[in-house]
Amino acid sequence: MRLEIRTDPPSEVIFGPADFGLLAARHRKVAVVTDRNLEKLYGGRWREELKKAGLPELLFAFEPGEAHKTPRTLEEIWDFLARSGLTRSDAVLAAGGGIVSDVAGFAAATFLRGVACYNLPTTLLAMVDAAVGGKTGVNLPQGKNLAGCFAQPRAVWADLGFLDTLPEAEWQNGLGEIVKYGCIASEALFERLSRPDWREELSQIVFDCLCIKQEVVEADLLDGGLRQLLNFGHTLGHAIEKESDFTLPHGAAVGIGMVLITRFSEEKGLTEPGTAAKIEAMLSSFGMPTSFPESREKLFAAAASDKKRRGDRFTLALISRIGHGFLQEFDREELA
Ligand code: GLY
Repeated sequence: MRLEIRTDPPSEVIFGPADFGLLAARHRKVAVVTDRNLEKLYGGRWREELKKAGLPELLFAFEPGEAHKTPRTLEEIWDFLARSGLTRSDAVLAAGGGIVSDVAGFAAATFLRGVACYNLPTTLLAMVDAAVGGKTGVNLPQGKNLAGCFAQPRAVWADLGFLDTLPEAEWQNGLGEIVKYGCIASEALFERLSRPDWREELSQIVFDCLCIKQEVVEADLLDGGLRQLLNFGHTLGHAIEKESDFTLPHGAAVGIGMVLITRFSEEKGLTEPGTAAKIEAMLSSFGMPTSFPESREKLFAAAASDKKRRGDRFTLALISRIGHGFLQEFDREELA
């Protein structure tokens, strides 16, 4: 199963294990970039795959976690690529979760002014979102993702085998984003998730999410409009993550953000009544939280100072009902 993403240059999502033979047919050297936890789990396998394909065994692993998504890690990756003698016709394989695809993708996009990058997401979140669509970057002391660029991966392998050993917090991260896709674009996906046997349909669910992402990315690659729909629940979600001192997984915070923002838009008469309750019930069925102890006023005020604010106007992703997202501008005052 394949999904072509018609961007320039084009990208594709291939369902199944990474094809090291294809990498070897296209490149003389491929550097696997991952984090140290994943290196322990899969480093041996990836080195073996490189060797079997006739490629040199190049693998660089950095410290895991958001705290290491920094310019310093970027510099370490550049240093490894330079010492390994990568040329313009070589490639990086970013193997890991969203942090890995962000930082390794940025390193690939900037090393020698850009070498090819392939993504091998190992988490549900990265599979349905972060690894697809070409957003790359690192954090700065002043905030998340403040330095980065858009650079499409040549290909992304969605290998559901990685999900067999996924920890609970990582399932919540992925499910938060999957519920989001249902909310903004597909009532059918939302209903599929409400079935007790949804795990048996996981590959179809991942495929449905990627079809939505494909459509959004093709229509608005550079995030000037429609793509902001993918931020549904995220503006408040980021504020909640921060208030929780990052103890709450991103997906869980986004889930609470979706409930709160939908209650707000119901109050404004912009959303069919009962929609927030449907999202709440869905998240509860996954054992995810639906509320946060901090006052709503404080969270909205924190969200109003979010970096995506444009002057005193603020664009929010909302839904009119399940499956129907839209963007609406608000005054900062109104929100705060
Ligand atoms: N993760 C949101 C986006 O790709 O735009």
